[in-house]
Amino acid sequence: MTKSSFIVNAPGRVNLIGDHTDYAGGLALPCAIDLGITLRGNFDDAFVTLTSDALEGTVSFAIGDESPIASVRPPWGRYVAAVAREVTESRGFRATMTSTLPVGSGLSSSAALEIAVALALRFTGSPMQLAELGQRAELRAVGVPCGLLDQLSIVFGKEDHALLIDFSDHSIVEVPLPADFEIMVIHSGEERQLATSSYSERRASCEAAAAIVGPLPLASIDDIERLDDPLRKRARHVVTECERVRQAAAALRDNDPTTVGQLMTQSHASLRDDFDVSTPVLDGLVETLNAIPGVYGARLTGAGFGGCVVALCEHDAIVDPTSFSGRGWRVRASDGARLVVD
Ligand code: GLA
Repeated sequence: MTKSSFIVNAPGRVNLIGDHTDYAGGLALPCAIDLGITLRGNFDDAFVTLTSDALEGTVSFAIGDESPIASVRPPWGRYVAAVAREVTESRGFRATMTSTLPVGSGLSSSAALEIAVALALRFTGSPMQLAELGQRAELRAVGVPCGLLDQLSIVFGKEDHALLIDFSDHSIVEVPLPADFEIMVIHSGEERQLATSSYSERRASCEAAAAIVGPLPLASIDDIERLDDPLRKRARHVVTECERVRQAAAALRDNDPTTVGQLMTQSHASLRDDFDVSTPVLDGLVETLNAIPGVYGARLTGAGFGGCVVALCEHDAIVDPTSFSGRGWRVRASDGARLVVD
């Protein structure tokens, strides 16, 4: 039996711009962040046993267990069991999870857990296969037909870089983040419930629009304007958001945070008005942040319906994240998930 010890670090991710574009084959500009989860433990051939410092209960099952995922207790164990079903050559582990990533915040705590567990189960495929495995596990665990944004960010993250991801072919270009500004993440206090939200409905609208006008990232605004609402508005968000991502990546390369910030704020308006995934609390946070001198721009990040806002700020901008109900973080772009074996 293998008893060697291991540590897995899996970061969360914040999306600077480009939301609800991944499943439409569009563009996004996320980065992995220095908030994440860590699994520490020992390998075990036959069983998985996982406890958490923040979540209740112990996840415990035998490798090869085929009981229905929905019956797995505690509920967060469904992600763990779903990953174990996806890793065909799975071998077990006994570990404790610690986390600096708030659950349900839109910073991809579930995708970080999926990727961390797959590495602890000694998944041997390519990084791209690892990301795709996490995506399938999410669907198995909670029925959310998510795109690949979260898992790709967590697997391919690079310190001090954003990732320009093109979901039409999954190509990733690393874009250096200038040292002159910082990224702030503020929690709205509204926990995002992706599984029970309108996420699937938004995705279905994009697919319905694409069935009429073809792939949305290639569609023209004229094509989109001929659609009926709500498809017209949903598709318009995707088309305009992809263009904003392109411009934001170029502005980052030009070290032009003013333009990036403006694009972020426009992105928020589009997510609010066209995609209809914001909330009054998120809108209020964006407005408050934008009124602070030294803040270049702000937007909701991730799926919306609650969760977090991301802001781009000057170093000396007086934004005290702790003043927003004590739930804010200055984050740095970090490397992707890693397994270290002793
Ligand atoms: C969630 C999903 C991602 C992506 C974002 C919105 O985080 O898991 O695939 O669709 O929402 O950009």
